[in-house]
Amino acid sequence: MKNIYSIIKKAKKNLENKDVVAIPTETVYGLAGNAYSDKAVKKIYKIKERPFKNPLIVHYHNLHDFNKDCVSNKSFRILYKKFCPGPLTFVVFLKKKSKISKLTNANKKTIAVRFPKNKITRELLSKINFPLAAPSANTSTKVSPVCANDVKDDLGKKVRLIINGGKSKIGLESTIIDLSGKIRILRPGSITIQDLEKVLKIKINFKNKFKEFKSPGQSKLHYSPGIPIRLNAKFPKKNEAFIKLSNKKKIKNYFALSKNGNLKEAAKNLFSILRLIKKKGYKSIAISKIPNHGIGLAINDRLKKASNK
Ligand code: TXA
Ligand code: MG
Repeated sequence: MKNIYSIIKKAKKNLENKDVVAIPTETVYGLAGNAYSDKAVKKIYKIKERPFKNPLIVHYHNLHDFNKDCVSNKSFRILYKKFCPGPLTFVVFLKKKSKISKLTNANKKTIAVRFPKNKITRELLSKINFPLAAPSANTSTKVSPVCANDVKDDLGKKVRLIINGGKSKIGLESTIIDLSGKIRILRPGSITIQDLEKVLKIKINFKNKFKEFKSPGQSKLHYSPGIPIRLNAKFPKKNEAFIKLSNKKKIKNYFALSKNGNLKEAAKNLFSILRLIKKKGYKSIAISKIPNHGIGLAINDRLKKASNK
C-alpha cells in the first residue's frame, strides 16, 4: 500500500478540486466532500442517490473551526469536553455568516456536526481549510460500510479515491443528540443515552417515531441488506440465514455477532455479517432477540429499520 501521507495529500487535492473521497471513521466509512461547496455536496447526494431533503453531517477537526460556522451552547461544551473527538453528532444552530453550502443541511436553521476520532481522517481534516460533509458511504437505504472494500462493493467506480483505514472500530453510526431545542436523541449509538444523561445530569428522550422529518435514519426502510429480515426469531426457517448474538453450534446457516455475547463486539460485526449473508446468496435472514440495553438499543434501532418495522 502507498504511504498514507501521500494518500492524504491526494485526498486533499481531490477535495480542493470539489471531488468526493471516501474516508474511514471510527463509526462507519463516510463519503466526504467540501461542506462549503455546492458542487462537492451535490456530488455526494448524487452518488448516494440521497434525497436533498435529508441533510448531511459536517465533520470538523476542532472547536476553532466549528465556531466559524456553528453556535455553541453549554450542553455542547460539556459533551464536547467529555466525548470529542468521538462518535457523537450534535444538532446545533448554524451561524448566519456560516459558509456551509445550503445543500449540506437541506437549508435548515440547524446543522449536524461531529469531530471524528479516526487518526487518518483527523490528519486529513487538519490539512484542509474547510469542513467535510460526509454521510455514510453507501447507496441510500443500504447498509453502511465498515471497511474500504464495502465502499468499493457498493459505490464502485463512482468514487475515485477510497482511503483504506482498516475496519471501523465501532461499526455503527454515531449517536445523534439534538441540542437545538429540548434535548433529545435522534439516533442511538455507541455513546448511550445513559452516558449522556450522566454527563448532562438530565433525563433525555429517545423516541423512535417522530411526527416531523427530523432525522431520516428514521425514514422507514434503511440499513437494508436487500433481503427480508425477521426479528426476535427463536429458530430459522428452512434455507434462512440465522444470526445469533453468540453461537456455539457449528451449523452452516448460523452466524454469530460475537464470540461471548458481547454487545460492543456484536455492534462492530453486525453490518459485515448482513453483507456476508447477502453475498452468500441467502434469500432471507432471521435474527434472535438482542438485549435492548447499552449499545443493544442502537443495534435494535438499526435492525428494526432494516426489517422495515
Ligand atoms: O457515524 C456517522 O455519523 C457517519 C460517519 C460517516 O460520520 N455518518 C452518518 O451520516 O451516519 P448519515 O448521513 O448516514 O446520517 C446522518 C443523519 C441522517 O439521519 C440525517 O437526517 C441526520 O443525520 N441529520 C443531519 N442533519 C440534521 C439536522 N440538521 N437535524 C436533524 N437531523 C439531521
Ligand atoms: Mg447513512
